[in-house]
Amino acid sequence: MEVTVESHPNIALVKYWGKADAATNTPINGSVSIGMQNVKTTTNVHLEPAAAPSIEMELNGMPVTPSQRVQNMIDYLISLSPPAAELLSTHSLKITSSNSFPTGAGMASSASGMAALAVALKTLLAPTLSNQTTATLARLGSGSACRSIHPGFVRWDAENGIVTQVATDKHWPELRLLAVVCCAEKKAVGSTEGMLRSAATCPFMDRRAEVASARLEDVESAIISKDFPKLAEEVMRDSNDLHAVCLSSYPPIVYLSASSLAVINTVHALNSSHNSPIAAYTFDAGPNAMILTTAAYCKQVKWALSELKLAGSVKDIIDIGVGGGTVVQP
Ligand code: PMV
Repeated sequence: MEVTVESHPNIALVKYWGKADAATNTPINGSVSIGMQNVKTTTNVHLEPAAAPSIEMELNGMPVTPSQRVQNMIDYLISLSPPAAELLSTHSLKITSSNSFPTGAGMASSASGMAALAVALKTLLAPTLSNQTTATLARLGSGSACRSIHPGFVRWDAENGIVTQVATDKHWPELRLLAVVCCAEKKAVGSTEGMLRSAATCPFMDRRAEVASARLEDVESAIISKDFPKLAEEVMRDSNDLHAVCLSSYPPIVYLSASSLAVINTVHALNSSHNSPIAAYTFDAGPNAMILTTAAYCKQVKWALSELKLAGSVKDIIDIGVGGGTVVQP
């Protein structure tokens, strides 16, 4: 018995930063994201009868020890579904996963990886689980993964953990998403460690969560009304707030590099030469930027960013496309 699933990362437009409960990845603030189309994780889960059941895992062609997070997902599935518990007590599980983009470099590989695994485990072991429970399963692997279950614009509420699709990936055809690769190396401080350090040491942590919660409503209405200038400003403000929180943690968490700052300056220079924003940047826990723009300005934005590539401060500019979600392969 086996299943193969493809999942796409998502980039948060209002970001999750801080855990109300670390064991269940319960966030202190709600978040909303957009699905990324042209990058993906492919995960195959294979079940084989065994006298002494085990779990084996391979990531990007290398054997790895299944993490505690993967074990938490499996334990949760066992607690929810007696048939899944029965199958796992008589079968070994082999998980084989690969990413079409840098892993662990702040390009949301954990979101697509854990969403793919959650959907694969559900399909093989507990097919009657609802989409919401599958999102909760993915969240145990990585908080942001619950937003990769659906394509398009997805909101994750802090109060109840509910994940909802705010709008489909077809909602805003003029919107463009670009990745600016500043560095493809693994990040130094993982997001969980970063969130815990910020909660313990950043004097502005609670205030940032309040601001992000209010911003969630503005960003959702900007998405629904396709108000690019409003969306752009809020997205950049939210990214800046998150990295300000990181810098005011102690020891400081510095995810942005000199190249990231060059991207930020380029986008603001472009925007100030127009009456309203034509592009927005957002950075997760890493130096690589995601850029939002519209079809009318995409060429101009790429041209401005390609100056940075020519100067050697950015490595690559990739058309990511809006899409995302997680799909079982036929
Ligand atoms: O879900 P995690 O543990 O990968 O944390 C995600 C944190 C950010 O990417 C910075 C923000 C977000 O909402 O995706």
